[in-house]
Amino acid sequence: MHDSSIMRRADVTPHAAALIEGLRDVGYSLETALSDIIDNSITAGARRIQILTETFSDEPFIAIIDDGEGMTEDELVAAMRPGSKNPLATRDEPDLGRFGLGLKSASFSQCRRLTVISRKAEKSAAAVWDLDDVAKRNEWAVQLPDDLSAIPGVDRLGASGTLVLWEKLDRLTGGYSYDAAKRAEVINQRLAESERHLRLVFHRFMEESKPLRILLNGRLLRPLDPFARQNPATIADPEEKLPLIRGDVGIQSFTLPHHKQMANAGWEDIGGPEGHLKSQGFYLYRGRRLILHGTWFGLCRQSELTKLSRVRIDIPNSMDGDWKIDVKKSSAQLPPVVRDRLKKVIERILDGSKRTYRKRGQKLVDHERLPMWHRIQADGQIRYRPNINHPAFADFADSLPEGFRRGFFNCIALVGASLPVETLHSDMAGTAERIVADTVDEDTLVQAVQSTLSVLMDAKKDIKDIMSMMKDVDPFRSAWEDTQRIIAATLEAKENP
Ligand SMILES: Nc1ncnc2c1ncn2[C@@H]1O[C@H](COP(=O)(O)OP(=O)(O)OP(=O)(O)O)[C@@H](O)[C@H]1O
Ligand SMILES: [Mg+2]
Repeated sequence: MHDSSIMRRADVTPHAAALIEGLRDVGYSLETALSDIIDNSITAGARRIQILTETFSDEPFIAIIDDGEGMTEDELVAAMRPGSKNPLATRDEPDLGRFGLGLKSASFSQCRRLTVISRKAEKSAAAVWDLDDVAKRNEWAVQLPDDLSAIPGVDRLGASGTLVLWEKLDRLTGGYSYDAAKRAEVINQRLAESERHLRLVFHRFMEESKPLRILLNGRLLRPLDPFARQNPATIADPEEKLPLIRGDVGIQSFTLPHHKQMANAGWEDIGGPEGHLKSQGFYLYRGRRLILHGTWFGLCRQSELTKLSRVRIDIPNSMDGDWKIDVKKSSAQLPPVVRDRLKKVIERILDGSKRTYRKRGQKLVDHERLPMWHRIQADGQIRYRPNINHPAFADFADSLPEGFRRGFFNCIALVGASLPVETLHSDMAGTAERIVADTVDEDTLVQAVQSTLSVLMDAKKDIKDIMSMMKDVDPFRSAWEDTQRIIAATLEAKENP
């Protein structure tokens, strides 16, 4: 080993202009950047956070103003330093920070000029990072303006609190640098898209008895609970605790109500733009703030079977290293011990959903119940084939002259063979609940009812049993009222010919 104290050394202080530009591209989006700023406000004890935007002016800006404890000038200058705190340091439990970077990296990802004004003990302090200024001077130095009166949003600061102002929004122009109207449209669109993210990421703070209030241009955002706990039809399993060296991991499974048990708007809201299929999975919270969601961490597939399952995982900030939490607080990796436990949770969920699925599947193949379609499972494949023995088909075939029967069955077989499987796949992946059976017109229904009735009555079945059989299969199930009426009329016609 060399003695490192006598080693030759060379200075490699980073070039401010180059490194600070690099800090811009660690992968933030507008929504993750806003969330990182809001994290800081929550850590500072804010109860009210206003997001103000001016998009139509020649100098558009976004301002985030909180009523937290604020910073003195010294604290503010320290906060503006990239790497203001050591990521290895232990943090208080409610602290949502880790790296001492978020304020800077989130801001620079969206803008070239960051101004922070903070007020504490009735004193205001301001500091500015302007990337154009840094590029010119190549210095790690912030500007400290004295006159704060003209800074947008400063009038909104209360007795204590912090204003984070983003100007020179070069990353939010959508390419329309010179077209103010188009540019405003782009920014407003992105803000609208971010709204749902904020409602989801901070919903637990917004649901508290003394709730955190986030206002977007004066409008109060409603919390978005991904587990729909307000809905009485949601099933919540008991919470489990997994004790680890650095704290407890909380795990709780939820089964969302079926979309029929939920108002349409509510269903769409918790499904989001990605839809329910992609929104199932684990919801990982760090200090009650949502880090990521809509993934099973590779432990199972996002399938229709498990579409209504969402599992909440709660971790404290003491486990950041184990979970590889990133600067943006938008990704994490499963520690192996937790992975094993979550595998069990998934097995339980899969067991439960397979059981209900099998029950529904049986209805379709149960020969007693007159299915129109057979579900045939063989050689690892599943096929659906029209049941040519169904009374509606068989009866009609009987009424045909010999020479036409074959052609009729060929037509039915063709319908089965050309089931649009690919289209169904893609529809299933998006919005399975919108796929419904086609309705039939009166004439078709009458023919189906009459032929089914006559076959079953010939088999000497009781009318009560016949009705209960028919009630479970389409097309009768979906048009049950009309079917009942037609049955009654048919029976009456039989009795009084
Ligand atoms: N709104 C605010 N109110 C009070 N103090 C703040 C506010 N925003 C930032 N700070 C102070 O500035 C520091 C730096 O913030 P920054 O977001 O860069 O890092 P962090 O929150 O410590 O960690 P992370 O990089 O994980 O977000 C914070 O630790 C905090 O002390
Ligand atoms: Mg932070």
